[in-house]
Amino acid sequence: MSKISDIHAIQVFDSRGIPTISCKITLDDGVTAFSMVPSGASTGTKEALELRDNDKNYNGKGVLKAVSNINNILSSIIIGKDPNNQNEIDNALIDFDASIDKSNMGANSILAISLANSHVAAKTQGINLYEHFGNLYENITGDSIKTSIPVPMFNILNGGEHANNNLDIQEFMIIPHGAKNFSEIMKWSTQIYQNLKNIIQDKGFSSAVGDEGGFAPDLNSNEEAITLIIKAIERSNLKPGEDINIALDCAASEFFDGNHYLLKGEDKKLSSKEFSNFLSDLTKKYPITSIEDPMDENDIDGWKLITDQMGHKCQLVGDDLFVTNKNFLKQGVEEKLANSILIKFNQIGSITETIKTIHYANVNNFKSIISHRSGETEDTTIADLAVGLGVGQIKTGAPCRSDRIAKYNRLLWIESESNNILLNE
Ligand code: PGA
Ligand code: ZN
Repeated sequence: MSKISDIHAIQVFDSRGIPTISCKITLDDGVTAFSMVPSGASTGTKEALELRDNDKNYNGKGVLKAVSNINNILSSIIIGKDPNNQNEIDNALIDFDASIDKSNMGANSILAISLANSHVAAKTQGINLYEHFGNLYENITGDSIKTSIPVPMFNILNGGEHANNNLDIQEFMIIPHGAKNFSEIMKWSTQIYQNLKNIIQDKGFSSAVGDEGGFAPDLNSNEEAITLIIKAIERSNLKPGEDINIALDCAASEFFDGNHYLLKGEDKKLSSKEFSNFLSDLTKKYPITSIEDPMDENDIDGWKLITDQMGHKCQLVGDDLFVTNKNFLKQGVEEKLANSILIKFNQIGSITETIKTIHYANVNNFKSIISHRSGETEDTTIADLAVGLGVGQIKTGAPCRSDRIAKYNRLLWIESESNNILLNE
């Protein structure tokens, strides 16, 4: 059995030009693997702590302290261990940090090692990363899993914290749920994307893109964004509702003032009930089948209300609400908040905890959606994670910009090389 012989991290840069960590693990059989850590902008307040230098360099965003924690402290805990014991490695890192939110060593340091370790373990066994994730799920939880190719939510129009425009809703996404395979999904989504670009330009708007590759025009209302997407679907000779559904990520914590939801772009000040009705009306007019963070992360009454109102007919996804944390998800299950969870491994900080959260969602009939962050890199681990754990859905931006496309291209390779892994039903 090969053992970890060296760990080395450096500071690299993400898709926004902001520092992040890249980590390399070497085994005594000479096998090496790398990881890179993503980073959010509209973060939930209960996420594990991303350690930043907060000094005068890189506008305070440097991660040299976190890099040093890997190279000078955490490496000594891990060197000599068997990389196949992901559980043991993650737990050793978590125990050493000893804080509730990984604030001593930084969740970014711990995740960098956790991710690189999963890659090196798959490599030394000579198996695909997604197969390794499937095996880990079974080993860690004792339950079996069926691998599948996920159906993406493509974020083709950006607002909120991800764009400098007047749209309050952060993400307007398309779900090509009617496609027969992943290649067709990419054909449809890129067609719609290019047609949306032409429609936006024809209206005299800029077709510059936001952080996740979606267009960021200065439209008059959130509803106008949806109508342009419907037009782009129809111009692609596809049927809204039949071939393509629509998903929203409100990221509502970003425009909640403690009492009201402030839609600045359309001059509206709505109570939780009124905002829930606003969203419910949109789902009656358009084929919207999934809404993420429709309420502020602390507006628990609002979450109860909207889940009661729409939870039976619409996927309601907790992102800032659950922050990939099993304990918060447990509260959601018990109090009937949402019916799905967004999974971002840097919100919690390790592969093992991510798997445990997904398992908890599975046994409680909550859907999981594997997600990127708005600050990404060329690391494609989430594509393999979505396939290996068979969660069925992935959200990794527009079909544009390499930090997003890299994940979709990885899924195309997985589909082309494995005839027995099918698109999730
Ligand atoms: P973030 O946004 O990565 O900036 O947090 C993504 C999301 O809210 O889903
Ligand atoms: Zn979100």
